[in-house]
Amino acid sequence: MSIDASAALSVLYYVVLKIGNLRLLSPFILAPLSGISDLPFRLINRSFGCELAFLEMISARALVSKSRKTGEMLLSVPYDRPLGVQLLANDPDILEKALEITDAYKFDVVNINAACPVGKVTRRGEGAGLLREPRKLQELLKAAVKCSTAPVTVKIRTGWDESSINAKDVALSARDAGVQGLFIHGRTAAQGYSGKTDYRIIGEIKNSIDVPVIASGDILSPELAKKMFDETGCDGIVMARGALGNPWIFRQTAAFLKTWKADQHPGLAEIRATMLTHLQLCSDYYGEDNGTIIFRKFFAWYMRGLPETRPLREKAFHAKTTDQMVSVIDAACTEKTGRLHAA
Ligand SMILES: Cc1cc2nc3c(=O)[nH]c(=O)nc-3n(C[C@H](O)[C@H](O)[C@H](O)COP(=O)(O)O)c2cc1C
Repeated sequence: MSIDASAALSVLYYVVLKIGNLRLLSPFILAPLSGISDLPFRLINRSFGCELAFLEMISARALVSKSRKTGEMLLSVPYDRPLGVQLLANDPDILEKALEITDAYKFDVVNINAACPVGKVTRRGEGAGLLREPRKLQELLKAAVKCSTAPVTVKIRTGWDESSINAKDVALSARDAGVQGLFIHGRTAAQGYSGKTDYRIIGEIKNSIDVPVIASGDILSPELAKKMFDETGCDGIVMARGALGNPWIFRQTAAFLKTWKADQHPGLAEIRATMLTHLQLCSDYYGEDNGTIIFRKFFAWYMRGLPETRPLREKAFHAKTTDQMVSVIDAACTEKTGRLHAA
């Protein structure tokens, strides 16, 4: 490819993504991740260029029944914007009541989950269970579009299983219901999180509907992010497992798509500073004890893929105070481990 063509294409990656009245300068979106996408996680990813982030998936039923824990998931701060809320539902009346509650928070986008493959969710006919009831899904989406002031989107998978791939029909039906964005994880519900992402179906959907298509599946590196854009023509992508312990993926992907060159992995000082900030955010938000416990899993993710970190991960899993966790972080970022990071 000539340099000019490559430069022109790189500009294309920077067109603003529009989801209804929401205008985004970045097409890279932080996924709703159950048990993970809390305020500290969102803020740490925002500090590396994430623009639109999602709260953890929220059960409409739990929200309407005023579950305290669920209500707390809606909490945010002014600079945690733009912010999307994702709801699990199966009953249009309950969904409407849940949306009355979320509307008061002025979220920038609403997403209805028709993608979660977890048994206890699908058995209630929610999440990916809705792929087996496309009419029910359309009814839900129409109800959401009718009463939400924020643009309504939906997240689907390619189908329930290999023998019932129906993403294109579901996408068209969702578009007819009035959704303003379609998120698709390129796997069936039966695949869970393993097996190959189906780029072909995502591309087919992109060519079939006139609302933005936001793709998910194996976006674990800037190279795989580019592959998703190249192979599907999608309008945006979702960072999920690729952002665990790796908030730099936002910065690195933006740089890679602009310059076509792999960005440097962050240096040891930056990794240490990021972990310390993330720990501090957890401690501020949850209190020192709980914050340290919650940070443990993030520590393990920050260490992912690096050799000889097992003893450190074990120490982190026993850390009870932020001081103890800071010592583990410091040990992880010593000269010796630094050479390992660079290896
Ligand atoms: C631990 C975990 C929790 C997840 N929680 C949600 C969720 O609450 N809502 C959702 O739409 N997707 C959820 N997902 C799916 C991701 O958003 C994403 O679609 C999926 O992981 C595929 O992308 P990846 O292969 O790049 O990780 C979750 C995935 C993981 C691994």
